[in-house]
Amino acid sequence: MNHPNIDQLRTRPLVAVVIVLLMAVALLAGVACGRDAVAPAATPEFSLPTALPSPEAAPAAGAGSEATAAATSGYWEAPRTWEPEDVSTLERVTQELVAPPFFPEHEQVYDGEPRVVEVRMEIEEKEIEVAPGVFMWAFTFDGSVPGPMIVVHEGDYVELTLVNPSSNELLHNVDFHASIGALGGGSLTNVGPGQEVVLRFRALKPGVYIYHCAPGGTMVPWHVTHGMNGAVMVLPKGGLKDPAGDPITYDRAYYVGEQDYYIPRDENGEFKRYDSAAASAVDDLEAMKTLVPTHIVFNGVTGALQGDGQLTANVGDNVLIVHSQANRQSYPHLIGGHGDYVWERGSFTDAPETGLETWVIAAGSAGASISTIRQPGTYVYLSHNLIEAFAFDAKAILVAEGEWDNDLMEQVTPPGPIQ
Ligand code: CU
Ligand code: CU
Repeated sequence: MNHPNIDQLRTRPLVAVVIVLLMAVALLAGVACGRDAVAPAATPEFSLPTALPSPEAAPAAGAGSEATAAATSGYWEAPRTWEPEDVSTLERVTQELVAPPFFPEHEQVYDGEPRVVEVRMEIEEKEIEVAPGVFMWAFTFDGSVPGPMIVVHEGDYVELTLVNPSSNELLHNVDFHASIGALGGGSLTNVGPGQEVVLRFRALKPGVYIYHCAPGGTMVPWHVTHGMNGAVMVLPKGGLKDPAGDPITYDRAYYVGEQDYYIPRDENGEFKRYDSAAASAVDDLEAMKTLVPTHIVFNGVTGALQGDGQLTANVGDNVLIVHSQANRQSYPHLIGGHGDYVWERGSFTDAPETGLETWVIAAGSAGASISTIRQPGTYVYLSHNLIEAFAFDAKAILVAEGEWDNDLMEQVTPPGPIQ
């Protein structure tokens, strides 16, 4: 028998697609000519749909025309334009940053004039125990992996003082995905040990965005995979909205920063430990180039958001979780719950998706979800590549207190002998 080889199999569908496209072009050309020239009597009515029907095209019950427009376009509000401000006249506020998974104090809705939000981050190179007996020099913004969450409002200015103490060995900087220009600020914030720099950028893009160190070349993934990344949340004017344009608020907010590590092994397969921050660079590059992480964890080290670090909520709470991954994809899923509202790609100018089981965080991005907790008990918030969740520990525990609802779920008969 004459089996087609793999290349032929690949080519045949391609040829079919090309033929169909050519036929479509010929048909369209005919219609276009027919309009301008003499219309042949037999030309059938032919029109292309202006938009594909979308499952979200149906407006929510009771929603007005604004909501209909929002649902069809996927936007609840057009991105606004902003006039430059005289920064010297604006109100200045200092935001005290806190270690994740917690958020700094902030207002969910702020409709006032733009403000200058001052934040200070001190870079710290420090050895951490990624998993029992496994050590790595982490490069951190403010001492934590991930770095602290910064929260501002659309139109505000973020004014960051970035400090690189002389106790560090390496040059660092910061690239804010939320910002516009100069490699996200990377080219304006290079600081060697013993230096500090002040960068101001305007937060015009409502959404959640990562920031990370980006000192150039392979130093970029090296610093990022040593923990040097965090996130900014830019809340839209008027706060968060559902697809119908109605406000959504949250009762608790947690920041989950997922981190992949590539820790070199010695000739016996044991993880190596190094004397200083810079010492592992050559070995790290080899380990990184395998593209296979040795560790995938939430918030810096194995088990950080479990046991003493577990997340908590009460039945009835709306829980906001911002999930970032600066280097790799992730698939957040709340076992026993849902993403009731999900800004999968992190942009708050897009309407949230609703009722998702699992969503995707693209490499180099953050996404946000709000889950209403309806039952008490233990939830597992994980990346639903289950190997990454359970064999690598890419997971967090969320424990909720409150009244169990038998209407939602009930064990009708407990396990027992087969009748
Ligand atoms: Cu760095
Ligand atoms: Cu980046």
